[in-house]
Amino acid sequence: MATNSHIIAIPFPLQGHINPMVQLCNRLISKGIRVTLVTTFSISKTLQNRTDENTINIETVPDIDSTVNGGDENLDIYEVFIRNFRASITNGVPDIIRKHSSSGHHVKAVVYDSVIPWCLDIAKGNGLRGAVLFTQPCTVCSIFYHLHEGNLEISSDEVGFEVSLPGMPVMGLKDLPTLVYDMNSYPSLLRLLVEQFSTFENADWRLFNTFDKLEDEILKWMSNKYPIRTIGPTVPSMYADKRLKGNYDYGLSLFKPSTESCFQWLETKEDRSVIYVSFGSLADLTEKQMEELAWGLVETKRNFLWVVRETEQCKIPKDFVSERGLIVNWCTQLEVLSHRSVGCFFTHGGWNSTLEALCLGVALVVMPQWTDQTTNAKLIADVWRNGVRVKCDPNGIVSREEVVACVNEVMEGESGDVIRRNAVKWKEMAVEAVSEGGSSDTNIAEFAEEILRT
Ligand code: UDX
Repeated sequence: MATNSHIIAIPFPLQGHINPMVQLCNRLISKGIRVTLVTTFSISKTLQNRTDENTINIETVPDIDSTVNGGDENLDIYEVFIRNFRASITNGVPDIIRKHSSSGHHVKAVVYDSVIPWCLDIAKGNGLRGAVLFTQPCTVCSIFYHLHEGNLEISSDEVGFEVSLPGMPVMGLKDLPTLVYDMNSYPSLLRLLVEQFSTFENADWRLFNTFDKLEDEILKWMSNKYPIRTIGPTVPSMYADKRLKGNYDYGLSLFKPSTESCFQWLETKEDRSVIYVSFGSLADLTEKQMEELAWGLVETKRNFLWVVRETEQCKIPKDFVSERGLIVNWCTQLEVLSHRSVGCFFTHGGWNSTLEALCLGVALVVMPQWTDQTTNAKLIADVWRNGVRVKCDPNGIVSREEVVACVNEVMEGESGDVIRRNAVKWKEMAVEAVSEGGSSDTNIAEFAEEILRT
């Protein structure tokens, strides 16, 4: 039953950041908190298709015009995007707060994505408390924390580079987030991820989309620095365990899913016989990489369901045909991963995809592209062992032979058995964390209780 306690939620307006925020909001609503989510107008139109208006109230700010760089030609696309989003939010949110407070639904707090830390100023400037949500693993956040504190030196020479940080496995250069070592990346994004700690200690709550047993050592280390709360996986547990079926909406699709064709096709496949392939909402592979992946999937001689976003479909080899494969531009990933026919998930290692596969006990082949995906791949292959990481050739291309070898390693033989057993083990621990009385469920209940008491 919704009370008058109300929060404003502000996700970073990209798919992989909106989903965990929407999922967290749904869980807060189930604990009696009213939620208003603030996003841009065009995203709000998509969101309302996916989220029952009776759960999350949507308020909008003007769309981000990425062409307006204020005359500063030196800004990269992300800097312009972030600067314009900040202007929209800073101008629009105070009125939204006043509107709801005057209608008797007292806004108590702002929950904001860690990559937009300036939202805390908006909260405090309106007399509200602030909760920062980290939508990447604590291990990745901690690497950026060390950079923020100035105690992590990065060498550009990969040979022999190793870094040993508290609570983490020893990392080679290519195990760190790409923004840390790839000088061709957008420096503005690295700044964004390092600056996310600027409000860390002044926030009233620090929420992580992970769970205690998944990252136990690094979470203990981070907890010694500041009070933190694990509230993940925010993945709707209804997919992981029917016992917990709730009114969760797992977020939104900024892309229109071609769902009907997926399930008719999946229904015709044997159990655990399908490779599900998806690289999330942002990755853009080169034509050469798409060629190797496409022919590699054919050479596995297995069924595959491959998500290729519309903007990427031009990179599929012109002569590509396969009677075993189905290519779609988007699907409802959680339902696909829940399907009995899916035997492994060939992924880029985005954090939401990683958590979703983990919650559903699906084994992984990880081909990381950028940002946190390289570190997620390290954790999957070497720590959690619920999947394998592909190897690149000297040009950074994953060959069709490597695609076949990794799929076979996960789908068959003793190595596959061990990986699948680990995948089931992590699923059970994820379900335990989000089940009633579990560590994450308890943390969310306590967070909601503190909001109710504010
Ligand atoms: C981005 C970054 O790239 C990622 O590294 C970071 O961890 C989060 O932000 P993205 O690349 O989109 O995310 O990947 P991911 O985190 O996996 O999020 C993709 C979301 O889209 C998932 O929730 C997935 O379920 C959903 N999805 C993907 C669909 O619903 N349908 C699809 O066809 C593909």
